[in-house]
Amino acid sequence: MEIIRIPRIVRETSRIHRSRGRSVGFVPTMGALHEGHLSLVRRAKAENDVVVVSVFVNPSQFGPNEDFEHYPRTVENDLALLEHVGVDTAFLPPVEAMYPEGFQTVISVGALAGRLCGAFRVGHFNGVLTVVNKLFNIVQPTRAYFGQKDFQQTVVIRRMVEDLNMDIEIIVCPTVREEDGLAMSSRNAYLGEDERRAAPVLYRTLTRAAEMIRGGDTTPEAVVRVMHEMLRSEPLVTEVQYAGVYDPGTLDSLVEFRRTTLLAIALLLGKTRLIDNMVVERVAKN
Ligand code: PAJ
Repeated sequence: MEIIRIPRIVRETSRIHRSRGRSVGFVPTMGALHEGHLSLVRRAKAENDVVVVSVFVNPSQFGPNEDFEHYPRTVENDLALLEHVGVDTAFLPPVEAMYPEGFQTVISVGALAGRLCGAFRVGHFNGVLTVVNKLFNIVQPTRAYFGQKDFQQTVVIRRMVEDLNMDIEIIVCPTVREEDGLAMSSRNAYLGEDERRAAPVLYRTLTRAAEMIRGGDTTPEAVVRVMHEMLRSEPLVTEVQYAGVYDPGTLDSLVEFRRTTLLAIALLLGKTRLIDNMVVERVAKN
């Protein structure tokens, strides 16, 4: 595995691969890698000739009171995992290489960025899109892989690719979970023992809501009420930022169920912000 820190070198390497007809699969990450990230890497390996993984904790997607400084950084372990999975190139740019002095252009997304997480993390998705766009321009991938775990992120990225005519296939992979249902996340490392024990409440709530929807004879209001009740009954939950049923395309709250429903939750467990979601297909009844 090659470890490259200089954007220009990654771009040149990719250009050579593409000119020889090789497909390049790309998995952008912020490191502190876990099985969720690795599932994306394995899929990229299965579907491409060459795989590039970036590890970059992107300052522009963290708000002023967020955890940029404390975000877990485990570079040595990350590199060992990537090597083990058979990645071709690990791209680890320093912040100055991504945001040199004078940097001032950003990608800004419209209404989608104000929904769900965007309402609580102002500017977050502009930061994500700006860095993802930069990474795409550097890596020049054929396909890029993202996790459903960050559902809204996949929606805004697909939107950007479509709106800006980018020639990259976006592939969304299922959420990888711990045995008790907790979605794997680098931020799970922040959880204290009691909080970790309480954390599966998100998955339990999503599962219960999905059962209600699949069972039919319910309304969005009833499902949302049950979700909030379940989340509030966990004493370690300090704030429920949102929990509800949404249109997976527009991210608007649903007033009536259609074929596909997005269930999504963001909450604080102690000081740790956790998100999770599930997409439910309702089989039409005659
Ligand atoms: P990060 O949180 O490191 O996640 C990198 C990728 O791994 C994202 O596409 C995310 O959805 C996926 N992922 C995380 N946990 C997962 C899980 N349990 N199952 C499946 N996939 C999972 O998302 C980011 O970094 C950044 O915003 C980034 C896109 C790299 C831009 O900075």
